[in-house]
Amino acid sequence: MPNSERSSGRRFDHDYGVTTHAVLFLTDLEPEAVGDAGAHATHYEAVPVAEFRALLAHVPSELVARATFVDIGAGMGRAMLLASTYPFRQVCGIEVSPSLYEIAKENLANARVPKRRCKDLRLTRDDARIWHYPPGDLVVFLFNPFDAEALRPTLASILGRREPGVTWIVYHTPVERAEIERIDGVEIVAEERFGVVYALPKTSRSFCE
Ligand SMILES: C[S@@+](CC[C@H](N)C(=O)[O-])C[C@H]1O[C@@H](n2cnc3c(N)ncnc32)[C@H](O)[C@@H]1O
Repeated sequence: MPNSERSSGRRFDHDYGVTTHAVLFLTDLEPEAVGDAGAHATHYEAVPVAEFRALLAHVPSELVARATFVDIGAGMGRAMLLASTYPFRQVCGIEVSPSLYEIAKENLANARVPKRRCKDLRLTRDDARIWHYPPGDLVVFLFNPFDAEALRPTLASILGRREPGVTWIVYHTPVERAEIERIDGVEIVAEERFGVVYALPKTSRSFCE
């Protein structure tokens, strides 16, 4: 992790009064509790603040106002807290690790969020591959949570949700981007050195059939 990222992560924790700055392997934390998800997970690391904001800048404000933000692999809650400074309708997070979930819950409850714009934050301990994604418009955030084998069923769950609306994916460190780019009709809206922003078609035969 570059020094500049480390110091901006520490600044975030100081300003928000939380602990999110760490690098941890899920399988070292609680292999039994996460089950098979552990075999596909990368590691815990919080998203670099400036890079999160640079990617979110590509999401139109009209969509932000209508959409639910979903952080897939919420970790200690940094991306959820950052998302709450935008006027999303709701901010959700799914985290498979019981201990990271507990830390995120405490962080969300105690954070001092400067310029909070969304107060409806919901954190769930579950497996993102099989979660019931909310209906309507979604801005889905991924900070490289898992491999292609786990991303595939996750995308199927997102695209197969009831009453789907517009779906955008903001993917930081898009190691498994090929899985998204093979969806019929997917559009690359923006690309930065550290991530990609996609607009998905409303339904996709390749995943829903
Ligand atoms: C790189 S961290 C991202 C943390 C957070 N999104 C952020 O940006 O600060 C990836 C997270 O994904 C979680 N994860 C991995 N596989 C998962 C799964 N199948 N379901 C839910 N969470 C998962 C890990 O436990 C880890 O907390």
